[in-house]
Amino acid sequence: MSALRTALSARLGLALPLFQAPMAGLTTPALVAAAVRAGVLGSFGCAYRAPADIEADAQAVRAVTDGPFNLNFFVAPQPDPIAPDAQTAALDAIAPWYREIGLPPPQPLHGPYAPDLDAQLAAAARVAPAVVTFHLGVLPAERVQALRRAGALVGGSATCLDEAHALAAAGCDFVVAQGGEAGGHRGTWLRDPHDALTGTLALVRLLVRDGGLPVVAAGGIMDGDGIAAVLALGAQAAQLGTAFIACPESGASAPQRAALLAARDDATRLSDKFTGKPARGLVNRFMREARDHDIATLPFPAQLGLTAPLRAPTVKQGSADFLSLWAGQAVALSRALAVADLVAALTAETHAALDRLQALREPASASALASTGVASAVPTPVS
Ligand SMILES: Cc1cc2nc3c(=O)[nH]c(=O)nc-3n(C[C@H](O)[C@H](O)[C@H](O)COP(=O)(O)O)c2cc1C
Repeated sequence: MSALRTALSARLGLALPLFQAPMAGLTTPALVAAAVRAGVLGSFGCAYRAPADIEADAQAVRAVTDGPFNLNFFVAPQPDPIAPDAQTAALDAIAPWYREIGLPPPQPLHGPYAPDLDAQLAAAARVAPAVVTFHLGVLPAERVQALRRAGALVGGSATCLDEAHALAAAGCDFVVAQGGEAGGHRGTWLRDPHDALTGTLALVRLLVRDGGLPVVAAGGIMDGDGIAAVLALGAQAAQLGTAFIACPESGASAPQRAALLAARDDATRLSDKFTGKPARGLVNRFMREARDHDIATLPFPAQLGLTAPLRAPTVKQGSADFLSLWAGQAVALSRALAVADLVAALTAETHAALDRLQALREPASASALASTGVASAVPTPVS
């Protein structure tokens, strides 16, 4: 099979223009190492990781491969101190589930609600990965330049043209076009995320035609046909998240895997009730009931501190009722394959899809028509 290259994938030395997406909580060293060894870009979602853990994760990958990987961070401001009445409303709203599960009543939360971004980026500088990406915002230009000087290609998520322009102005090397289909948090920071749900097809074309940064397409891509499609749109790589969750190397729990593999075509919705920011995931009991009661929430990411305690005891009982089951709209195409087998399948499918498209340009022969069933639709002459 001949190599499939774009300028961006060639720069990273990838065997296929494919990024295994960063997914905070799920992108284990085993998953990232397997992706890198399969010849694609592996990515760590470092949002909730302490600096020492980020360095340990990177070391674990480097122990088995020299290939390129990405460290990904959330660039979101810490919320202002939360007013006591807002705390009380959110605590009261979540308390019935705590009672049902047998947890002690939830207590007021005090910041910081997430690891310090400066300390995380200092760890990234020590790791010096091939790629650094960020989500939910843009780093100041001098921080971007510092990462680039340390040898990283730097990218960020955009859900609209203005965000892509902001990433270009900060000096990024590429933009991840996050279509509305994508699983996980909406990366939107310049608009209301509910108004920034342009689909991957439209968003990639808007950004490519705009002629700015190289585009990496993300959202709803689960197979090589999808990868071929976004390459045809002008993307320089495809970033797949949901497709990697069912891999045995991911950090998904057994109930999460079962929910993912049972998902239907209409399984996902946006919800801000788990973390305080809208994210796409499988509809489960918590998502449904939290919306029905329109529960009060704390601002991102403080709300995560209220919902996270619901997970461990319920997962232990085999339940996915209280998990944030982030997944994209094409989740029903999930396959429970080891990373190496998934990447091999994605590679073969991408080539097959491109071959199929190429064949469309050839003059139609009778046998080609027959194989599509078109020939049988042609009326046979009556003698
Ligand atoms: C479980 C999950 C967690 C995610 N966490 C992150 C993250 O930490 N950082 C980030 O930039 N994107 C995150 N995303 C978005 C992915 O990087 C990617 O853009 C998205 O998965 C693409 O859509 P798809 O899931 O349909 O493939 C997450 C997505 C999922 C499904």
